Amino acid sequence: MSKTAKAAPVRAAHKTASVPMLDLSRQYAVIRSEINEAVERVCASQQYIMGKEVAEFESEAATFLGAKHAIGCASGTDAIWLALLASGIGPSDEVITTPFSFFATASAIIRTGARPIFADVDAATLNIDPASIENRAKRSRSSKLKAILPVHLYGQCVDMDELARIGTEYKLTIIEDAAQAFGAAWRGKRAGSMGLSSAFSFYPTKNLSCFGDGGLVTTNDSKLAEHVRLLRNHGSSKRYYHEEIGWNSRLDAMQAAILRVKMNYIEDWNEKRKQRADAYDLLLKSSGLLAPSNPSAKSQSPVRLLKRMPQAFHIFHQYVIRVERRDELRAFLTKKNIGSEIYYPVPLHLQQCFGYLGYAEGDLPESERAAKDVLALPIFPELTSEEQATVVSAIAEFYS
Ligand SMILES: Cc1ncc(COP(=O)(O)O)c(C=O)c1O
Repeated sequence: MSKTAKAAPVRAAHKTASVPMLDLSRQYAVIRSEINEAVERVCASQQYIMGKEVAEFESEAATFLGAKHAIGCASGTDAIWLALLASGIGPSDEVITTPFSFFATASAIIRTGARPIFADVDAATLNIDPASIENRAKRSRSSKLKAILPVHLYGQCVDMDELARIGTEYKLTIIEDAAQAFGAAWRGKRAGSMGLSSAFSFYPTKNLSCFGDGGLVTTNDSKLAEHVRLLRNHGSSKRYYHEEIGWNSRLDAMQAAILRVKMNYIEDWNEKRKQRADAYDLLLKSSGLLAPSNPSAKSQSPVRLLKRMPQAFHIFHQYVIRVERRDELRAFLTKKNIGSEIYYPVPLHLQQCFGYLGYAEGDLPESERAAKDVLALPIFPELTSEEQATVVSAIAEFYS
């Protein structure tokens, strides 16, 4: 620095207490030059749809996930739809799924012409409850019932041992909605490698995300993979010749090139998410917000953690707690500029547009209870320990 150059202004010493729900700019700051290189590579090639970048990404993703095939597509929503269609699901079929998920889990079933059958969630994990699935399968006795579509909610795999057992016993195909679970595993097997086919989303808030919309279907079945490739490109393997009616659901080369950069970091990022989840657990515990140390104490603890299954490698796409007076707490945090979210405020069986399916309040009580008390706290790999302490001390202040 020259003698005459001005020194950088000293940052104000006081720290703002605001904590964002997600700050992707911190991730971008680290990988910016690699992303720019990848974007430049695509621009230099002038090949924007499919091509080498998409093929390379698909091959790298398949290897990472432990699946034989990975097929890029336009979104996670399309990935579920393509996975279902290629797995043989169609008009008048029935598919058991969870009502405690993002809308697309059920709408993709309906888009194939099939009907979703909702099973309740396990109160401890909020993942679909195998006992409730089995109950539906027994009651259905219908040859229309074809598949189970579990969602690995918040990044923790569903109990895949039980699902495999039920799948075999009732002859139901398993198709994974792994939109929130890139890198998550069950007994060491990664999400996306266990079902007949699986779907991922690369929406910007996902743990592996692109710079827009993107999705992926995985499968170990070569025929099914070919079918997905056909369906995502207007049902055509030879230009202007269409074997069936597909759709335009291709992944852009630009998104694939960006995903290739980010995939090199995903294990580290998932590990950092897990460390931050562990830190939240400890902070909440030491703030006295969890189960009281004296079990005979009358006061109910205001915060409950979700159960971590020992067989699961949970990647904490979201860190979700269950709390008393949820909406008041959320308003209190918002006032303090602390981000939080509700995944999900209305279970799918009670969504207005699914009224025709005939469900009513009280039908799936665990999902309905969860919709009233879940709260997701900020979690991302770059979240600092100071920020986590700020979040938890604000929660403690609210309940004090
Ligand atoms: C569980 C689940 N399924 C499906 C989707 C749909 O993915 P997309 O937004 O990429 O269409 C999402 C994410 O938005 C999701 O969280």
